[in-house]
Amino acid sequence: MKFFIDTANLAEIQEAYDFGVLDGVTTNPSLMAKEGISGKNNVLKHYKAICDIVDGDVSAEVIATDYEGMIREGEELAELDEKIVVKIPMIRDGIKAIKYFSEKGIKTNCTLIFSAGQALLAAKAGATYVSPFIGRLDDTGYDGIDLIEQIRTIFDNYGFDTEILAASIRNPIHIIKCAEIGSDVMTGPLSAILALLKHPLTENGLKQFLADHAKANA
Ligand code: E4P
Repeated sequence: MKFFIDTANLAEIQEAYDFGVLDGVTTNPSLMAKEGISGKNNVLKHYKAICDIVDGDVSAEVIATDYEGMIREGEELAELDEKIVVKIPMIRDGIKAIKYFSEKGIKTNCTLIFSAGQALLAAKAGATYVSPFIGRLDDTGYDGIDLIEQIRTIFDNYGFDTEILAASIRNPIHIIKCAEIGSDVMTGPLSAILALLKHPLTENGLKQFLADHAKANA
């Protein structure tokens, strides 16, 4: 399973990259705003700066919600760097835009997926990735992990190449469940990735090993 980090913070992206397990980055307009990035030129510059840190795919989201606007913005984003994946919302014109980009060989990530039907539509249009939002579904009382399972079954039934990018990951259990089901990618905060490191038996075991070594070498 590929690990993407879900942030627009350059220091966190660098830290995740240096950790050695990072395969890509996802952003969204809220994450860009959180970093105080505004104005078209600054936004484009920031995406380029992210691309310069990582080796893998970098999802950059369009703001337009009409077909022509999404095409215009998406083409501009794609020209920035070959790592850019144009992130398109799951709306009617979005599906048309995904079809357009897939025919032009430009990678897309269909975002804001909350049902298996939406994922199926995006895959049929040729999306490179679909992003089901697990955490946000959990927040509303539905099981986000069930959705990943449903989409996995559907994509496997028909051999879709579209990758499942489990998004809105909140904790390490989400990551493990996604890996069990066979999600192709997960995107989450650095804290959820680093939480995979932790186990009390590891910590206690290491403390004991080091204490025994110190005693023997005193
Ligand atoms: C996906 O690409 C989104 O950026 C993201 O995962 C949303 O997560 P959130 O629900 O934590 O905002």
